[in-house]
Amino acid sequence: MRNANLRRLAGRVAESGLFHRARSLWDVNQRDWNLPLSKWQKLTTGMFIILRDYATGRFPPTFEDQQVAYDAEISYSTALPGMTPEEIALNDIRKPFWHGALGRRYINDFTRICRALESCDVVPPQSLLELGCGSGWTAEFLAATGFDVLGTTLSPVEVDTARRRIDSLTRKWPAAHLEYRSAPMESVTDAVADRAPFDCVYVYEALHHAFDWRAAIAQAYDCLRPGGWLLICNEPNILHTCIAYRVARIANIHEIGFGRSALLRALEQSGFRRTRVLRNRCHLFVRHHWIAAQK
Ligand SMILES: C[S@@+](CC[C@H](N)C(=O)[O-])C[C@H]1O[C@@H](n2cnc3c(N)ncnc32)[C@H](O)[C@@H]1O
Repeated sequence: MRNANLRRLAGRVAESGLFHRARSLWDVNQRDWNLPLSKWQKLTTGMFIILRDYATGRFPPTFEDQQVAYDAEISYSTALPGMTPEEIALNDIRKPFWHGALGRRYINDFTRICRALESCDVVPPQSLLELGCGSGWTAEFLAATGFDVLGTTLSPVEVDTARRRIDSLTRKWPAAHLEYRSAPMESVTDAVADRAPFDCVYVYEALHHAFDWRAAIAQAYDCLRPGGWLLICNEPNILHTCIAYRVARIANIHEIGFGRSALLRALEQSGFRRTRVLRNRCHLFVRHHWIAAQK
């Protein structure tokens, strides 16, 4: 009853004059992924959609069907409103060398991944398995550092793009070890059985896209050698479910944030014997998770 009243109230607020501007921005934004929005416009448009979807029971998001979730993630790699597939592929292959703050952030994060590996004594030429590698830039950089890297991701289109990185790296350094395969992280063990066990499994900004992130953590455990490390890198905190909701709705994908304790519990339940919070110990429910777990 209380929930029904709250939902009705949320619906009324969303349709009120307060969100008049946000409603029209949302109409345009759905047709143009790249619509430039100020921070305030992002906030109010995001609040509008959350209130409206909460009123109809669509927020908070839940997954119902694994194949539907996979299909949505895969089409996200080729279809975004306002961008051609060629523009998306070009963006993907140039990642992280994007001019501006976002590109700089990715490059900073790469140094953080390197520090995380070092802090767990994972050093070249040890073997790494990446989950949700997208167009494969971190795998390429780590292979260039000297690791033996297998990048996996859901979308075969992303794997095709990523494989172009093998050509470019092996032209510079024919002995580099870099491979990409298409595999859902919830069932990656079978897809990489011929290469397992790995010294380290890592996931960067992808676990929160998974249909079943707990299953992905359990699979990471199975892929590791005893004493090997799982690195969870820059996965969003619980408030991301609200912050990213607008973008997730446009792209028709599932973006959620994790509570720190839920993540640590899942690691323990999968059998990891030791966990270390590498960054953002004080997370305030917004700072991203950087966690290492040892098998
Ligand atoms: C935000 S992107 C990050 C990609 C990559 N880590 C990077 O930094 O470019 C999330 C990635 O997760 C992949 N993904 C989503 N669900 C997945 C799943 N269940 N298993 C494997 N990969 C998945 C998507 O295809 C996408 O490439």
